[in-house]
Amino acid sequence: MADTLGFGIIGAGLVAPFHAKSLRASDGGELIAFCDLDKARADKMAAEYGVQAYYRLEDMLADPRIHVCNVALPNHLHHGVVLKCAAAGKHVLTEKPPAMTLRETDGMIEACRKAGVKFGCTVQCRVRKAIQAMKRAIETGRFGRLLHADAYMKWFRTTEYYHSDAWRSSRKSGAGVTVQHAFHYIDLLQYLAGPGARVQARMTNLAHPSVKLEDTLLAFIDFECGAQGVVEASTALWPGTDVRIEINGEDGTAVMAGERVTTWKFREERPEDEEIRSYGSAAQATGAGGPADFGFQDHLVVIQDMIDAIREDRDVIIPVESVRPTVEIVLAMYQSAARNKPVELPVQDDDGVWEW
Ligand SMILES: NC(=O)c1ccc[n+]([C@@H]2O[C@H](COP(=O)([O-])OP(=O)(O)OC[C@H]3O[C@@H](n4cnc5c(N)ncnc54)[C@H](O)[C@@H]3O)[C@@H](O)[C@H]2O)c1
Repeated sequence: MADTLGFGIIGAGLVAPFHAKSLRASDGGELIAFCDLDKARADKMAAEYGVQAYYRLEDMLADPRIHVCNVALPNHLHHGVVLKCAAAGKHVLTEKPPAMTLRETDGMIEACRKAGVKFGCTVQCRVRKAIQAMKRAIETGRFGRLLHADAYMKWFRTTEYYHSDAWRSSRKSGAGVTVQHAFHYIDLLQYLAGPGARVQARMTNLAHPSVKLEDTLLAFIDFECGAQGVVEASTALWPGTDVRIEINGEDGTAVMAGERVTTWKFREERPEDEEIRSYGSAAQATGAGGPADFGFQDHLVVIQDMIDAIREDRDVIIPVESVRPTVEIVLAMYQSAARNKPVELPVQDDDGVWEW
């Protein structure tokens, strides 16, 4: 194994710099190339980071210096490209959502397993210290019986944002506040409270009439563990405020706003609690007001973990298997909104979801 692992970023758009900056800051990762069908975008990003530009996926995959591919493409393209990366023997880190259906998600997981390559997903909010503290508190039983797991994402995106690339206003390409923006926070609820059992959702468009998508989601989730949850997510609410994640159990309540712990209260106080209450910074932007309005630190943790996982020959901290139940909840939300009734999980027939 080479001392340094080479990375290729597929898709030189908005999120690509978060991967590139993380690689610059990583211990043992080296960015080798960007690949984008749009030559100008590939060239611009490659020049900025002093690396190679590829315009055809096949050419990048043939580059032996590249061990890991970061898939930063529009959502509906992840599936086909991940399969090609796996077939070329490259480890893969895909952006969220990993794919558009469960069938695709399972196919990608299986392809990576068969190829013997790592397969991670950048649902990077999981690595925030506040979320890790909540996860530990749940696992060690500090909340007692879990009662509620809620996400409130009151964000703003301009109409220009939706029209800036064709895929951003196309449901079939994976646009819409539920699958595109709220995915991270639905994933946090799933990560903390576990898989969903039943979902009811309503989707509306409050502030972007020229875009044929939901810009607002209101949903209830019944989790398998017995807790219930609410998701309120919007890109219509100017100027946008920090996402709140709220966890309530019989014995405690924890709230994260942005990346800060704003409430951390348990019936039995522990010595570490005072420090946990100081986690996060109010100055750290977390995406409320604009699409690139956040730092790369969370991406860095996920990318550094990919490097370490390959070196140590272990699984990554966010394997795509662990994100599959989030994909399922999101698909159930679209089914529920389309049918105007609750949907029981596991979802059936997810292939038709994007026709709605
Ligand atoms: N983790 C996060 O916080 C976060 C933030 C933003 C976006 N994302 C995700 O990142 C992915 C990309 O989003 P974005 O906003 O950067 O999109 P983008 O449209 O800005 O960039 C995508 C790029 O892919 C290129 N492309 C399209 N088809 C291609 C192909 N077949 N081969 C090579 N290049 C191709 C486009 O030309 C474009 O430059 C999406 O999955 C999105 O959900 C994640």
